[in-house]
Amino acid sequence: MKVSTKTSDVADLNLAGQGQDLIDWAAREMPVLALIRERFAKEQPLKGVKVAACLHVTSETANLMLTLKAAGADIALCASNPLSTNDAVAAALAAGHNIKTYAIRGEDNDTYYSHIEAALDHRPEVTMDDGADLVSVLHKARRDQLAEVIGGTEETTTGVIRLRAMADHGVLAYPIVAVNEANTKHMFDNRYGTGQSTIDGIIRSTNVLIAGKTFVVAGYGWVGRGLASRAKGHGADVVVTEVDPLKALEAAMDGFRVMTMGEAVKDGDIFVTVTGDVNVLDRMHFEGMKDGAILANSGHFNSEINLKVLDQISTGVRQARPSVQEYTLADKRRLYVLGEGRLINLAGAEGHPAAVMDMSFANQALCAEYIAKNAKTLERKVYDVPADIDSEVARLKLHAMDIEIDTLTEEQKRYLTSWEEGT
Ligand SMILES: NC(=O)c1ccc[n+]([C@@H]2O[C@H](COP(=O)([O-])OP(=O)(O)OC[C@H]3O[C@@H](n4cnc5c(N)ncnc54)[C@H](O)[C@@H]3O)[C@@H](O)[C@H]2O)c1
Repeated sequence: MKVSTKTSDVADLNLAGQGQDLIDWAAREMPVLALIRERFAKEQPLKGVKVAACLHVTSETANLMLTLKAAGADIALCASNPLSTNDAVAAALAAGHNIKTYAIRGEDNDTYYSHIEAALDHRPEVTMDDGADLVSVLHKARRDQLAEVIGGTEETTTGVIRLRAMADHGVLAYPIVAVNEANTKHMFDNRYGTGQSTIDGIIRSTNVLIAGKTFVVAGYGWVGRGLASRAKGHGADVVVTEVDPLKALEAAMDGFRVMTMGEAVKDGDIFVTVTGDVNVLDRMHFEGMKDGAILANSGHFNSEINLKVLDQISTGVRQARPSVQEYTLADKRRLYVLGEGRLINLAGAEGHPAAVMDMSFANQALCAEYIAKNAKTLERKVYDVPADIDSEVARLKLHAMDIEIDTLTEEQKRYLTSWEEGT
């Protein structure tokens, strides 16, 4: 039973109980957010602030929404990807927590954008993006609302790149805090979270054995590093392709074979793009791949694999398994595309484990508080997460993991800040 009301558009409200179980399960692994929620409930730093969030609608995101709600925020949530919504979680937020939720797994492009419009109808003062869709629609089509927005946050690399370009061109109309740039975000979420969950998505979609396969990782940034190391841990022969000489060198020194994609296609069994770039797997690559090659993407947009061209050069396409499309080429080779080329860790699995989202979303929550407190002094540019928020998240995480660390002695502080002390 699809439910579309002014205040929500979710697949089936009857799933709310199941969704609440998932939210509670994630909460077990989100102690940092829980500590922040406790403080927010007392201090109400977002009292009455209208927030629109465009995020993957998962059980972890639900915990962030509940933290913002505890802080007094008035929230509307929509999906940041048509395939990443957990319908049960969406139902729980809409029915059990009275949060305006617009998200249906598998929604078509029109519905996806109508949900973004619905979240913007909430007339947000703070936007929370994962891929800059809210910012983009506000700047292109709803400029009359821009003056109402005091600031926003951005979760992912791709969104930050877009926003920096807007700031550089002088068109960004309100300040954004780039949550992705926090060390406690990209070093953990992009690397460990995406590394593990991408492998999880591939295995759940195909049930292939990773051991013994040639596993090609395109891009050796934060995500690529995590993915390559996890694939190696599974026993794959990992090949890395890059365009940046420094990253390529790092991959080689980390023990991976580095080569061009043109070379890699001859050997590769599984290809995963994590570049944030476009057409990283293109016609010339499809033409050189082995029969049975598996293609997946874990970068933000579904443009890393040129599916349009693959479709054109195929004689037939069929659904081989729920998340697997089989493309048959003229010479009878078959290529398998996972999750329609969308983020495979969300399309084929459950996204990041809650423990890493705990840190990303702790940054989100604290940055929303920071924006509300500092709205008057922030300029129309992209800010890094303040260093004290970053180290506070690391401190809380260590505390939650029951890990203690040393502190500098007075003598050590003097030594480390003085130029006069000798060896
Ligand atoms: N799946 C997820 O849940 C998830 C999580 C975090 C980030 N992301 C997305 O993953 C992508 C990568 O993020 P990141 O933090 O690793 O970014 P990054 O900038 O650290 O790394 C990207 C790397 O790709 C390389 N690259 C660019 N074009 C290339 C090409 N044609 N061939 C080979 N390499 C190329 C760049 O040189 C760079 O080293 C982004 O789109 C980001 O938004 C997805």
